[in-house]
Amino acid sequence: MRTILVTGGAGFIGSNFIRQFREKHPTYRILNVDSLTYAGNLENLELMQTDALYHFHKVDIRDREAVRQLFDMYEVDEIVHFAAESHVDRSITEPEVFLTTNVLGTQVLLDTAMRQWKLEPNDKHSRRYREGVCFVHVSTDEVYGSLGSDGYFTEESPLAPNSPYAASKASADLLVRAYHETFGLPVKTTRCSNNYGPYQFPEKLIPLMIYNCLAEKKLPIYGDGQQVRDWLHVSDHCEAIDLVRSSGTFGGVYNIGGHNEKTNLELVKLILHKLGRPEALIQLVQDRPGHDRRYAIDASKIERELGWTPRYRFEFGIEETIDWYLAHSDWVEHIVTGAYQTYYHDMYSSVE
Ligand code: NAD
Ligand code: TYD
Repeated sequence: MRTILVTGGAGFIGSNFIRQFREKHPTYRILNVDSLTYAGNLENLELMQTDALYHFHKVDIRDREAVRQLFDMYEVDEIVHFAAESHVDRSITEPEVFLTTNVLGTQVLLDTAMRQWKLEPNDKHSRRYREGVCFVHVSTDEVYGSLGSDGYFTEESPLAPNSPYAASKASADLLVRAYHETFGLPVKTTRCSNNYGPYQFPEKLIPLMIYNCLAEKKLPIYGDGQQVRDWLHVSDHCEAIDLVRSSGTFGGVYNIGGHNEKTNLELVKLILHKLGRPEALIQLVQDRPGHDRRYAIDASKIERELGWTPRYRFEFGIEETIDWYLAHSDWVEHIVTGAYQTYYHDMYSSVE
């Protein structure tokens, strides 16, 4: 039996990945390793509770000893590494945890995997690993920085991160690259554009706007709202990751994107329209410091080499997502209590 260790599996993309992976790969043992920060929520995985080959471990990836014990307990064959602090706005007010989790946590995982998978662990020149092992590092297009009004990020675009979040992810990407170059660790990296879909924490643009619409609150848009993001449904992202895992080249980087660029204002108006709410709910607020203007992905490498293309049409995906939030008001209500209210109040104090 093969064992896959998923870090950050209680978060938005990780939980979608686990459910989707299980459907496709019924015989794998799945280990979900997550420290359950504010963004981790086991309610995202209720469907997995009866799955005998699914195990959850509350472990912080920065805890080297705890991570080592996990590798001692199970023979891990593959890792898909999602665990991260993931919200740009939080990285502006509290950058340190982004460095400890996203950079040092990644290094703990790389190191532990290397020691457990290496056939001659005490030989620094050895590049031989147990057959069939693989480390997939899930990264973001934000490592490339910001685009002007045209052009796309390719895998060769220079890394030019602008936020502490993006800088921490770029640092992790470079460590992953270094472990491949120096130690021959069998790694693969994915860099995806903005995701949307079910189970996304309502601090990110789309679920925040849906929630505020439903709660009849103002919709805070930063700056002029003309920033562009390339939206991809989370299930298309998960499918791409699974394909890279099974068929991507070791040491390879794969961009993943939706060919679906929208300005923030355009997107928020679409949500308002779908929910039958007035545009007067929009409130332009002070811009995010260092706000990237435009992200757009050239995903031709993964399309050409692995045959991946997104399945979701955005117009359908956004409608389905809005319906999901409407049907899961309990899930939302459990989140938007105490700590969330404090965060929202501090973050959006200027919003009426
Ligand atoms: P998320 O914030 O919803 O989930 C992150 C998960 O990691 C949470 O369950 C959290 O509890 C866990 N975690 C955080 N710190 C941890 C630690 N120290 N130890 C163990 N677990 C920890 O994030 P997401 O949106 O699901 O993103 C997942 C990954 O995908 C991240 O690496 C992110 O950079 C990347 N990514 C996200 C997007 C996007 O649009 N959301 C796009 C491209 C790439
Ligand atoms: P976000 O979902 O935080 O993703 P990212 O910063 O990783 O792209 O934000 C998406 C876009 O929406 C980004 O340009 C910032 C903008 N935004 C707002 O205008 N208002 C908000 O309240 C939020 C959360 C985001």
